[in-house]
Amino acid sequence: MTETSFYEAVGGEETFRRLVHRFYEGVSQDPLLRPLYPEEDLTGAEDRLRGFLVQYWGGPNTYSQERGHPRLRMRHVPFVIGEAERDAWLKHMRDGVESLGLPEDQEKRLWDYLVYAAHSLVNSPS
Ligand code: HEM
Repeated sequence: MTETSFYEAVGGEETFRRLVHRFYEGVSQDPLLRPLYPEEDLTGAEDRLRGFLVQYWGGPNTYSQERGHPRLRMRHVPFVIGEAERDAWLKHMRDGVESLGLPEDQEKRLWDYLVYAAHSLVNSPS
């Protein structure tokens, strides 16, 4: 018997699409974070983050087919990420997570991971 992945349990592609779209709506209006994103159009960044999260939670591995190994710390080196950037990132992610209306246990599992991952990517502590 195959176990249902967290990806499937929370609603698959559509759930991650909504999460990441809401997140980037916040980022697009954020004076601290927006300048960090190199591309004028945030669609590509949205695709990459969604693809990564889909893969991480057990969905299709399109992200690695297109981008290779995630190596998230290395890929964030070009961006100065201090506590303020981390907290701003998490604020928009929190809006995204809450917009999903997931059952409490699923919401907690997703959120705890995002908090942990965001803390691990701080590369310029104050
Ligand atoms: C890429 C900022 C945390 C996953 C990026 C980019 C920026 C950025 C500016 C480049 C956008 C692009 O792809 O064009 C930040 C900041 C964070 C943060 C300020 C605050 C801590 C995270 C976390 C994750 C994540 C926690 C995963 C859970 C990714 C992925 C990419 C990316 C998958 C695309 C990598 C690639 O394939 O090139 N991030 N990020 N980021 N970020 Fe973050």
